Formats: sequence, structure tokens, C-alpha cells
Amino acid sequence: EGQFEALQRPPVVTIMGHVDHGKTSLLDYIRRTRVASGEAGGITQHIGAYHVETDKGTVSFLDTPGHAAFSAMRARGAQVTDIVILVVAADDGVMPQTIEAIHHARAAGVPLIVAINKMDKPEANPDRVMQELTQHEVVTEEWGGDTMMVKVSAKAGTGIDELLDAVLLQAEVLELTAPVDGPARGAIVESSLDKGRGPVATVLVQSGTLNRGDVIVSGGEYGRVRAMFDESGTSIESAGPSIPVQVLGLSGTPNAGDDVIVVDDERRAREVAEFRSARTRLSRFEEQRGASLDQLFSQLK
Ligand code: GTP
Ligand code: NA
Ligand code: MG
Repeated sequence: EGQFEALQRPPVVTIMGHVDHGKTSLLDYIRRTRVASGEAGGITQHIGAYHVETDKGTVSFLDTPGHAAFSAMRARGAQVTDIVILVVAADDGVMPQTIEAIHHARAAGVPLIVAINKMDKPEANPDRVMQELTQHEVVTEEWGGDTMMVKVSAKAGTGIDELLDAVLLQAEVLELTAPVDGPARGAIVESSLDKGRGPVATVLVQSGTLNRGDVIVSGGEYGRVRAMFDESGTSIESAGPSIPVQVLGLSGTPNAGDDVIVVDDERRAREVAEFRSARTRLSRFEEQRGASLDQLFSQLK
């Protein structure tokens, strides 16, 4: 990898926040208004991630909001998120899962941008939200802090351009780079078994370029990339850093957060995948043996 020049790459964003504060509405609004729909009747697919192109740059969104998904991916060693958008409803204010999200982002070392949502509501009180966040050391730039906060309405569509601008500004500060050339490395965002198409996996490319025809290994699965699609369902030939793609051709469904690597050929892929499966089985066996020994000891006591 070292031989390939690192270039600027788009930020990857996860949306978090308290229940019903508007995470899904915000993701849906941005997707609906900013993702160019595919040629095949404009049907946008659910692939667990999407990217939007603005005149100031590209932003990728992981479409699976939720603290559990974030933690599960991190537990697998996947560091896929660059920026967290913390959604706080302006009529409800800071709630327990708002605070939980702040802690998750902090633990991951990922900067926050606050989207103060539901500004269309008469009860909206953004000052109260900013005040409450201050108690958790999240201080708006307006008050001399270092957190960007943007007032939005996922319902009315206001503030969305400003929010995307804020993300791109934050990304600039982070100086996100990755090589574009060379074999791809990435992470699984989600995967499932499709009746007609077999295993379908959404891969977030993190460095290099993934091409149709590449042989990949992910978790204990492997295969040749038979076809790739973007979030509009349009068939594509390749995808570079920070771009999510749907991949067909894997032998099975890896877990969210599993890494994706490209290898030379299918023989090598099978070796790597089999080695990994054996290693997983072995550690599971050792866990079980440990548990049954514990049980035996407790019976002896
Ligand atoms: P969970 O996934 O259940 O945690 O909720 P969520 O954060 O994804 O919230 P969701 O997008 O489902 O929105 C919850 C409710 O708030 C829905 O009834 C939305 O229509 C409403 N809502 C979301 N954004 C806005 C907004 O900007 N203004 C108003 N008035 N309502 C909104
Ligand atoms: Na909801
Ligand atoms: Mg939701």
C-alpha cells in the first residue's frame, strides 16, 4: 500500500441520536433529494449506505443509524466512521441516548456535528439544546466551543445544505486521505442472502479501488466480484475510497465490520478464508471448553 500516493477522500458519516429525534427522517431526506436515482426506473436500493455529491465535495452516509451497529462494527476492529452527526430534536432536547451517543463518539475519537432537528415545530428551542449539550462538554462554536451545530428540519428540508457544508468543513480539518490506486481494502456494512442473487454484501471501500472481477476475502467468505452496484442500483465497474458498493459473488454472508481484502486468485482466497474459518472454530471450541471446565469445577466445589 505504501507505494501508492494517498489522496483526499470523502468523509464517512454515521447518524446517531435519541429515539424519534429524526435520524431516519434525516437520512431519508438527504437520500431522496441528493442521490441521483438509477436508470432502472429510479428505484433506490437499500444497501446500508449511500453517498451524495455536492458542489463542494462528496459525503458518504452509513444508513444504519443506531448505537448497537456502531459498537458492533467497532468491536470487530472496523473504524469506518469519520464523523458522527448527532441529531437532537429541538422540541425534546438532550435525552439519555443523546448522551450515550456522545460517549460512543468520544470513545471512538470521532468528532461530532450536532443537527438540531425539528426546527419547523413551534416548540423548537435550539438555545435550550445548546445549553443542555454544554453540560456534556459539547459546546457550540457560537459560544466559543469547537462543535459545529446546524439547525435543520428533516421534514421541511431546511438547513440540509448547511449541514452537508459543515460535514465537509470538518472533513477538511481531519485531512482524510487514502490511496486511490492499488488493491482495495474495505469493510462490510451489511450482508444478506438474496433468493435470486445469492449472498449480497455492501462493502465500504476504505482504500484503493475495488473492481468488478477482483477476488476478495471477507471474514470466512470469499469469491470473485461478479457484479457491483451503487445505491441507485446502477451497475458499476469500480469504486474508490469512501464509496459504498453492493457486491455479488461471495460464498456467504460476512458480518458487519468484517474487513475486505483483495487477493491474487481464487485458490489463495479459499486458503485465506479456510484458515480464518478454522481459527474462528478453534476459538469457539476453546470458549466452550473453558465454559464446560468452569461448570465442572463449580460442581466439584
Ligand atoms: P428511531 O429510529 O425510532 O430511534 O427514530 P428516528 O430518530 O429515526 O426518528 P424518525 O426519523 O423515525 O422520526 C420520528 C418522528 O419524528 C416521525 O414521526 C417523523 O415524522 C418526525 N420527524 C422527524 N424529523 C422531523 C422534523 O424535522 N420535523 C417534524 N415536525 N417532525 C419530524
Ligand atoms: Na422512530
Ligand atoms: Mg429510525
